[in-house]
Amino acid sequence: MKRVITYGTFDMLHYGHINLLRRAKQMGDYLIVVLSSDEFNWESKQKKTYFSYEKRKQLLEAIRYVDLVIPENSWDQKVSDVKEYHIDTMVMGDDWAGKFDFIEDETKAEVVYLPRTPEISTSQIKKDLNAKKLATSVDTSTIDVSGK
Ligand code: CTP
Repeated sequence: MKRVITYGTFDMLHYGHINLLRRAKQMGDYLIVVLSSDEFNWESKQKKTYFSYEKRKQLLEAIRYVDLVIPENSWDQKVSDVKEYHIDTMVMGDDWAGKFDFIEDETKAEVVYLPRTPEISTSQIKKDLNAKKLATSVDTSTIDVSGK
């Protein structure tokens, strides 16, 4: 059985994530997603997620490509994860290209960077939602309430 692993935050799950998970699963038989914990997101990336770890985990577990979700608590756990779970392939989006090549030197796994799905990211969704909120909020200072 070929075992694949991938890492990420997967907040506000979107079709870019699903594309990544589908292609990752196609590379083997069993896909493990290592999901950033809330503490890890905050301490290492100063990112506060919209959905909590438990909610993000539930969503991922409902995806048919995903076999197991485990927490990511530090940048340094990759080598031990790959060894502990007998991983054959580590898959990352190509925003990480080159960053995890050392895994190939330290373990028997290959590292594959898949092209990101264009024009979608959690940060972009958040920006778009904020922009819409601003555009639709009524500026009451310009409303004439004098009754004339
Ligand atoms: N991913 C992808 N295509 C996208 C967005 C994400 O292939 N359009 C991949 C990333 O490369 C990563 C995984 O999905 O391997 C999880 O990415 P994550 O950083 O959690 O999602 P983003 O939407 O990129 O979130 P953010 O904008 O907060 O970085």
